[in-house]
Amino acid sequence: MVYPIIRPTLPDFSEVEADLRAIWSSGMLTTGRVVGELEAMVAGYCGVEHCVAMSSCTSGLVLTVKALGLSGEVILPSFTFAATGHALVWNGIEPVFVDCLPGTYNIDPEAARAAITPRTTGIVGVYVFGVPPELGALESLAAEHGLALMFDSAQALGATWQGRRAGGFGRAEVFSMSPTKVITAAEGGLVTTNDGALAGALRQMRDYGKSADGYEMAHIGLNARQSELHAAVGKACMRHAEAYIGHRLAMIARYQAALSGLPGVSFQHVGDDRTGSGNYMVMRVSGAEARLSRDGLYEALAERGIHTKKYFYPPLHLHAAYGAWRQKYEGRLPQTERLSQEGIAIPLYGHIAPEDCDIIAAAIRDLLG
Ligand SMILES: Cc1ncc(COP(=O)(O)O)c(C=O)c1O
Repeated sequence: MVYPIIRPTLPDFSEVEADLRAIWSSGMLTTGRVVGELEAMVAGYCGVEHCVAMSSCTSGLVLTVKALGLSGEVILPSFTFAATGHALVWNGIEPVFVDCLPGTYNIDPEAARAAITPRTTGIVGVYVFGVPPELGALESLAAEHGLALMFDSAQALGATWQGRRAGGFGRAEVFSMSPTKVITAAEGGLVTTNDGALAGALRQMRDYGKSADGYEMAHIGLNARQSELHAAVGKACMRHAEAYIGHRLAMIARYQAALSGLPGVSFQHVGDDRTGSGNYMVMRVSGAEARLSRDGLYEALAERGIHTKKYFYPPLHLHAAYGAWRQKYEGRLPQTERLSQEGIAIPLYGHIAPEDCDIIAAAIRDLLG
């Protein structure tokens, strides 16, 4: 038996069939009725006024950074997926990396405060593994310094903070519907915001930047449209959002119960005032106390057919493509660098069987116990 790290959870094909047939015969293959329906569903689910569907979260991030007019320096955590940084660098912005909190794995708001300079125009927060960061502290910090706050919420559709769903924090949030996400559209992104002007600009920017007359370019945009076929898949998965998230959170709790007490093993801390989306089950394996290092565990599990992921690894400031920043940041983000050496994601899907989690947990206990 092989356990992949991730498998997309899809509803029965019959749930997309009607939309796919209607798209096929309509002659409208992109950014039409079905995309509009997905946008309305997500806006309603997140409790926000606007949702603009994109071809991916990455394109959504690139366009949101541009639409917000960010420039100069923008603060972000280094403990994130590369797309967070790419969106800034594509816009000619200097990424300013800050450290994360060791328990929550999310951006340290005090480190963000210390990184503000006269050139800072914004902060990009990240919901690491779908868990909300310190949203209140980040919103206060941004307001105090007149900075634009936006979120890379790629992994966080369905997460909550103080009873509010992710989607309405900061100026905008950007979600992913790629195959590794809790709710997928095969590929896709979603920008949510309560700012009508921003949503309007993003609608034009995803279509090359075309103005309302369709001729004149109002912006330097991209083709970041979402196809109707993808939106049909996204709609069908959205209907099951609560069930998929509920199952994942239950399986995370099951894993944690089975793995607690192992020397050197700890889990991402999720405060009582928030819930994650359950996108990943990540644990820390601290080499000094654990029987195996994270990399040793990764290899030993692979030999038993259990696929895991070193996550996020390496941290953004140590990627080859970020060589220009390596010298500046290496050794200066100790929590991030350590976490990146210790974090490992283990198999989790919206439909993983509890018995499979038990088998995987038993293998880990066997290796680390
Ligand atoms: C934190 C984070 N940001 C951005 C992305 C990019 O999303 P997409 O693949 O939809 O462009 C991902 C995808 O894995 C992610 O995990």
